[in-house]
Amino acid sequence: MKTIAVIFGSRSAEHDISIVTALSAIIKPLEATKKYKIEAVYIAKDGSWYWDEKLKDIKLYQSGAIDEFMRKAPKVQLQFDNGLTLVKSSQFAGRKAYKKIDVVFPATHGTHGEDGELMGLLEMANVPYVGCDVPSSAVAMDKVLSKLQTQAYGIVSPKMKFFTKSEYSENVEGWLKAIKTDLKMPLFVKPARLGSSIGITRVENEKELVNAIEVALHYDEKALVEEAVANLIEVTVPIIGNDELIPASVEQPLPKDDGVFDFETKYMNQGKGGKKMSGGKAGAQGYSKIPADISKDLYDKSLETALGVYKAVGCQGIARIDLLIDSKAKKVYFNEINPLPGSLYNHNWRASGWSNVDLVTRLVDLAEERWNAKQKLTTTFSTNFLKQF
Ligand SMILES: Nc1ncnc2c1ncn2[C@@H]1O[C@H](COP(=O)(O)OP(=O)(O)OP(=O)(O)O)[C@@H](O)[C@H]1O
Ligand SMILES: [Mg+2]
Repeated sequence: MKTIAVIFGSRSAEHDISIVTALSAIIKPLEATKKYKIEAVYIAKDGSWYWDEKLKDIKLYQSGAIDEFMRKAPKVQLQFDNGLTLVKSSQFAGRKAYKKIDVVFPATHGTHGEDGELMGLLEMANVPYVGCDVPSSAVAMDKVLSKLQTQAYGIVSPKMKFFTKSEYSENVEGWLKAIKTDLKMPLFVKPARLGSSIGITRVENEKELVNAIEVALHYDEKALVEEAVANLIEVTVPIIGNDELIPASVEQPLPKDDGVFDFETKYMNQGKGGKKMSGGKAGAQGYSKIPADISKDLYDKSLETALGVYKAVGCQGIARIDLLIDSKAKKVYFNEINPLPGSLYNHNWRASGWSNVDLVTRLVDLAEERWNAKQKLTTTFSTNFLKQF
């Protein structure tokens, strides 16, 4: 039986969402296959690592018992042995528990996890892992880099300017003038590498613009200013695959002011009742339409754009591509990439006929396929270099 380590939590604003993704959307279906032994590896908010069966129980986190657990539990050590082995002190004094890992399933969202950092560690260990690799994760989490990279492949995103904090502060007047000349109000100002709308402002005039840039640069060393897409319809497309890509349905999240989607609605009610989502009605989660309520032409354009983005950035395993549509001009713009969609966006996959089990099993297979292909590459090269010394 193969051992899969599911790694979740971490130093991120999306720490709690990651716990739900790991426990309900990944560990449960993986265990249901009876094909794998699952090890839960939790990265606490302070960056400490823990590995324990108890970490699979949502009640541990809900009740606050996690603090007590962390006070007593040993921290994990990682052994890199051309592979990955988890190590911790066992209940027998002086003895250690070891577990060799066959595949890692990262379930981290946001900083210190989804941004490529964790993937770098897994590459160094040479262990197969699910999802986007180092460069695609890092590019995906940077709103400037992901737009530049996709533009190079002919994919359209809103017209933008971007700068670092020091570039901006050295020439504030120059940047404001360039923005005014080259971009049309209203504008969106964003920190380059944050999520969850933190630090993002929509601006209508120069005074608001100055404040908004200050806010964005308060959160990140790099910011972007881009034109607002008019007559906006937002859609999102989950995709899986390494070389051969499979998109789920184009989904239309309902506008954010259409009701508050609290944590419960958005992340906890998935899978309950197994309601079928179709026909432009609100989805089972009540916050989106699957499929999106748009013309066939826009639907096809959205799929094509999303697949193009996934390929251009070199995503692997899974990702979700967010798009902005100008419904009058019938134009589709690329907005952003989520390398690890919350709960794998399994509600949407279910609407396309994929059970949670199908989804996680396919993702583990994709991780192993990628790893096997990589092992065939030559990484060493014999030289006489050392003999000279
Ligand atoms: N250029 C734009 N034109 C129109 N609306 C935009 C534009 N950029 C962002 N928005 C609106 O702001 C929202 C948040 O922007 P974005 O997706 O870039 O940030 P985020 O930090 O990833 O936030 P979230 O996690 O809420 O998606 C978008 O979902 C969209 O409603
Ligand atoms: Mg977004």
